[in-house]
Amino acid sequence: MRSLGIYVHIPFCLLKCRYCDFVSFPRDGCGSFEPDAYANRVCREIEETSDEVKKGYSADSLYFGGGTPTCIGTDMLGRILLAIKRNFSVSGDAEISIEANPETVTEEKAENLRALGFNRVSMGVQSLDDGVLGKLGRVHNAEKALRSYEILRKAGFGNMNIDLMFGVPGQNMKKWEDSLDRVISLGPEHISFYSLQIEEGTPFYDEYKEGKLRIPSWDLNRSMYRLALEKLEAAGYVHYEVSNAAKPGFECRHNLKYWTMKPYLGFGTSAHSYLEGKRFFNTDGLCYVREYEENENSEDASSERMGDFVFTELRLIKGIDTEQFRELFGKDFEDVFGELLEDRKLQKYLEIKRGEDGKLCGLALSSSGLDNTNTVMQRFIQSLNL
Ligand SMILES: C[S@@+](CC[C@H](N)C(=O)[O-])C[C@H]1O[C@@H](n2cnc3c(N)ncnc32)[C@H](O)[C@@H]1O
Ligand code: SF4
Repeated sequence: MRSLGIYVHIPFCLLKCRYCDFVSFPRDGCGSFEPDAYANRVCREIEETSDEVKKGYSADSLYFGGGTPTCIGTDMLGRILLAIKRNFSVSGDAEISIEANPETVTEEKAENLRALGFNRVSMGVQSLDDGVLGKLGRVHNAEKALRSYEILRKAGFGNMNIDLMFGVPGQNMKKWEDSLDRVISLGPEHISFYSLQIEEGTPFYDEYKEGKLRIPSWDLNRSMYRLALEKLEAAGYVHYEVSNAAKPGFECRHNLKYWTMKPYLGFGTSAHSYLEGKRFFNTDGLCYVREYEENENSEDASSERMGDFVFTELRLIKGIDTEQFRELFGKDFEDVFGELLEDRKLQKYLEIKRGEDGKLCGLALSSSGLDNTNTVMQRFIQSLNL
């Protein structure tokens, strides 16, 4: 059987952070579509998956993301997990991850999550400076983040990720270094380090437009990024994706599926799927429906998939596998993107790998490319006329 990743979106949070545009709603006050009804809807969606898919794949990674999955009752999470296990073959060594906000972690919850079978927790810490956390609109302080980490470890979670953010209001190099040092000293198996993205529709976006959002300069942002790379590598973490590092063997199995275009199936509002070379997604909102890509065999759809391929695989530090490109699209990478590879301005952002015969065999971001991912991605996408 082919392997599959299963994603479940839990769109609830205690409170919305000031920078975040993920699909999530305040947990309390969702009217008739409160978490319990939502969990039932997701279970139904799982049951309704075609037998062909259920029988053709074996899930080796389950990922409950959000929002904040840990802000709803573990009974609801258990119901969804059970529905997955009843309907799909789940391999014995599957990675079963859940995202958590520190404020929602208690001893009882951590033990319940372990008992349900979750074996990896990804916790949003962002910073260990209370002033920075306040400016981000986080509901927890640094002390609670550290306590929750300890609680999860005590409950037996041997595979943990911590999310950090840099380039955020109120942060300077010293505060960033201090957060990094303290998080590294905890020794989580995985650390994500995200540069702040200013997303439309968030309070940060409005402040930014009004010129009121004070964030570190771009130069400082890049120095913060490089500091993270140095410290993480010195501490034995492998930098394997633009914003992700892990101890060897602890790369996130689920996210690797996204970045290498392996099959995954998403349940819940806004969840995306990629199966049999086809993409489909659920609409946003609590009463979501599934939508399919139109004209999936058209030239446009094929270009879109090539764009997705570059967009995801180029984020990996090992870069793009041009052989896989040929297998997926029946074309040579160089025939499609040859002009870009000749572009001198772009060349400094790329590591172009050629075999002894001079043929292109791989492509990765150079270290200045890592500082300019948006520029590089834009050039590739534009060249496909998307
Ligand atoms: C679903 S949340 C993680 C779990 C939980 N909801 C929490 O925040 O603690 C995913 C992560 O994406 C990152 N993130 C969200 N919005 C971002 C933005 N605008 N810029 C950079 N990182 C962002 C944060 O690090 C956050 O922890
Ligand atoms: S960062 Fe996490 S806790 Fe904050 S609003 Fe987004 S999903 Fe919710």
